[in-house]
Amino acid sequence: MSLNLSLLEICYLIASVTFVIGLKFMGNPKTARRGNLIGAFGMTVAIIGTVVLHDQKVPPIIYGLIVLAIFIGTIIGWLTAKKVAMTKMPELVSLFNGMGGACAALISLIEYPHMQHETGSMVAVLAGLVIGSVSFSGSMIAFLKLNGTLNKALRIPAYNIINTLIMAGLFIWVVLMIIMPGFDSALNLYLLLFFALMYGVLFVIPIGGADMPVVISLLNSFTGLAAAFGGFLYGNKAMLTGGILVGSAGTLLTLVMCKAMNRPLSNVIFGAFGGSGADTGSGAEGAGGSVKDISTTDLAVLMNYSKKVIIVPGYGLAVAQAQHVIHEIELLLESRGVDVKYAIHPVAGRMPGHMNVLLAESSVDYDKLLEMEEINPEFSSTDVVLVVGANDVVNPAAKTDPSSPIYGMPILEVNQAAHIIVNKRSMNAGYAGIDNPLFYDPKTSMLFGDAKTVLTALANELKAL
Ligand code: TAP
Repeated sequence: MSLNLSLLEICYLIASVTFVIGLKFMGNPKTARRGNLIGAFGMTVAIIGTVVLHDQKVPPIIYGLIVLAIFIGTIIGWLTAKKVAMTKMPELVSLFNGMGGACAALISLIEYPHMQHETGSMVAVLAGLVIGSVSFSGSMIAFLKLNGTLNKALRIPAYNIINTLIMAGLFIWVVLMIIMPGFDSALNLYLLLFFALMYGVLFVIPIGGADMPVVISLLNSFTGLAAAFGGFLYGNKAMLTGGILVGSAGTLLTLVMCKAMNRPLSNVIFGAFGGSGADTGSGAEGAGGSVKDISTTDLAVLMNYSKKVIIVPGYGLAVAQAQHVIHEIELLLESRGVDVKYAIHPVAGRMPGHMNVLLAESSVDYDKLLEMEEINPEFSSTDVVLVVGANDVVNPAAKTDPSSPIYGMPILEVNQAAHIIVNKRSMNAGYAGIDNPLFYDPKTSMLFGDAKTVLTALANELKAL
């Protein structure tokens, strides 16, 4: 092996190790940013190493094109990631994920004519093509659903039978291309590409918009797998490790999300949970009896004289962008000697870690964010629980009503506290589209209004006390 290639192997080794370390660091909000930078550093080493140290004869124009592509990609990626609102993050992830899938599929398309058609390479190239294409077209549909362009879950009759048949067809087609002499033509390769792209569309289109984070995470694992096949094809260890890490992390995340919602993956893919997936919700209104409300003046007094307050952030806090004002309230209360903590449900909001990232934006101390298992025993000794724009994650029906679609989903047991304050704009349902008996609990008072407006008023009342 030439010196260049040995150095290249070392670059790939560095990249692989940094991916593993970076992923480990991303497991904790305190070190997540560093983890991201470590992974990005490894990726930069791998890219520069590949461009500089390879042993192919390449015309100079190709280097120019590579630099241009990296430049354009970096600018677009940087600007979009900088500009994107937190609530639009799943959209961005689906778009970037789709690009990864497209890359894997393109690698297969480009390499196919140049490779030996022996079984190992054929499996890698065809699997990369199929999985990458499904991930690309599926992610594009997820993106369109999330940005509201495709806002209905379109279910053709017997769609899951049709989808299963297409999936089986794709599998058989791949096997035939590998084992049947003459079947490995370019035409058949393009037909495979076409049906794989179609399958991605048909797979995602029936799924409700609000289930998209789970689907995106699943598609993310597909992209990882497709990239890993690319790594296998080129014998590129960095690509292989990166792909396997993305594939397994995506799979685990999908399963963790399903577990936290107490729904099997099959229910997300084939079920009609959350109806059209509209985030605003329009479910049963006020079906559970009468509710009482509270003014910001009364609430400020109640909180001011409390010993312990727990804040429960939810999707509405993110929509209202009320993360800064909630932090201000936390600091005001603490200056009066009140113990304040945040209760974080694993699927609060619309993406994994949504609340952690949101509250980190307003510099809330990480130690104040407590996971569900840790905080649940604390509610019974809490004077006031302030629920801000959260609904399903505090719905006691999950524990008490076996007929509820969220029955069995672990919840934040806020109804154990002495006073429960729920801030939302109306009696509309949350993501699951169901009524919430918590609102009719005699200990509950509703604080109606947009979270940012109402919490700003509350902060002013607290300052005036
Ligand atoms: P939701 O149950 O969706 O409830 C959010 C509430 O926020 C709504 O009831 C809405 O009521 C209120 N709201 C909206 N805009 C508001 C504003 N500007 N000011 C104040 N309130 C506002 O949210 P959650 O409790 O966070 O639960 C998350 C749900 O998403 C769960 O069912 C979970 O399974 C699902 N989900 C989560 C994920 C991840 S990974 N996080 C992935 C897939 C699905 P009004 O309209 O009355 O204001």
